[in-house]
Amino acid sequence: MKKYVQVGCGTRGAYAYAVPLVQAYADCGVLCGVYDINPKRAKLVSEFAGKEIPVYNDFDQMLESVKPDVVIITTKDCAHDYYAIKAMKAGCDVIVEKPLTTTFKKALSIRKAQKETGQDVTVTFNLRFHPFFKRIKEMIAEGTIGEIRSIHYEWLLDTSHGADYFHRWHSIRENSGSLLVHKSTHHFDLANWYLEQDPIAVNAFGTRRFYSDIKKPPADRCLNCPEKKSCKYYFDISQDAMVRKLFLDCEDEDGYIRDRCVFSDVIDIEDSISLNVQYSGGAVMSYTLTAHSPYEGLRLCMSGTKGRIEISTKDLTGMGYDIQSETNVKIINYNGEEIHIEIPAETAKGHGGADDQIRERLFRNKHLPDPLHQMADTRAGLMSIGIGMAANISMQEGRQVKLSEFFDDLLN
Ligand SMILES: NC(=O)c1ccc[n+]([C@@H]2O[C@H](COP(=O)([O-])OP(=O)(O)OC[C@H]3O[C@@H](n4cnc5c(N)ncnc54)[C@H](O)[C@@H]3O)[C@@H](O)[C@H]2O)c1
Repeated sequence: MKKYVQVGCGTRGAYAYAVPLVQAYADCGVLCGVYDINPKRAKLVSEFAGKEIPVYNDFDQMLESVKPDVVIITTKDCAHDYYAIKAMKAGCDVIVEKPLTTTFKKALSIRKAQKETGQDVTVTFNLRFHPFFKRIKEMIAEGTIGEIRSIHYEWLLDTSHGADYFHRWHSIRENSGSLLVHKSTHHFDLANWYLEQDPIAVNAFGTRRFYSDIKKPPADRCLNCPEKKSCKYYFDISQDAMVRKLFLDCEDEDGYIRDRCVFSDVIDIEDSISLNVQYSGGAVMSYTLTAHSPYEGLRLCMSGTKGRIEISTKDLTGMGYDIQSETNVKIINYNGEEIHIEIPAETAKGHGGADDQIRERLFRNKHLPDPLHQMADTRAGLMSIGIGMAANISMQEGRQVKLSEFFDDLLN
């Protein structure tokens, strides 16, 4: 039976890992301890899971006394490297949430530690397990459109999902590496996975002009805002019992405010980004992220040597990836034939069933063959954030950034 410990007991940590591990995978592993910089939040894991889980006040002490096989890392993004490196050095395998980390310096440190220790690191790109994206991967692997030469890619977050990033820690670049790292890591990973090529150069532009309308916010947070009744982005932190418990009731410990005004002047990330990527096998990609769209959705067009696949979805659930409606997938070949593909709608909770699938793999079936390469390792984690981090530098310095400046020995 594998021994697990977890660091980071917020929304994702509690509901995607700790609770399912205790309730659905008790036959495969034991959650032997949890740690969070906010001990009140860490204690809630036992309440949510319905079983007493030891809470540690110190990560090193947790490693020392539990001697776990695996450390699950679900802290805010910028702390992933610190715990991943400590875990590997203590002889543990690592399951780390995306993005692997937030800067090139941290990325290289993780890579060095992994090389030195030989521990297994899995970056949890759950979209690779989403039945919809998995089916697209299968079609590409079957050679439906031949070798991909270009990608045109647009991802849209609506003003609920998109605005939520501006309320939380994600809106400060130091925490998240910006949306280009925190959010787009999913999107870049899908592109890299579909192409099976490495990104080699990036050119980017970005701006924040939507969540910047108000020069002086009427309050620092929604809770005490005099304009809560009229503000389109008002987030009621007290309405949802889980959010209230995890954040409002835990504020006295760490001062973290989960409903900060989306117009706060501490925010330093973009809400609209456009970039181009050149790949090692000669493919090129254009990509945009909009965090203030009237609807949630995605457009992804890939042109290959045998034809082209065009995908568009309008996700009306506002939850990101629960693709349920207005999904259109067609293949167009060079004879002018157009074939519409039906991919059954997914209604499962947890990112359209992706979370269930990745957990099955992580906790029960890690040893099984992986013909589609759904399990992402450090290299995949680095290549995906590599695009976002290079784009950040490109925007800052106004130049094309080559990934070889940082990842020389990794590139094909
Ligand atoms: N794959 C997905 O679909 C998906 C979805 C949501 C979040 N995530 C990832 O999961 C991670 C957690 O996100 P979340 O939404 O749960 O955020 P959250 O704010 O709900 O929780 C983060 C937790 O980390 C803790 N923390 C912060 N800094 C820490 C540190 N230095 N040491 C220990 N604990 C620390 C906080 O106290 C908090 O409990 C992030 O890396 C995020 O990118 C992935």
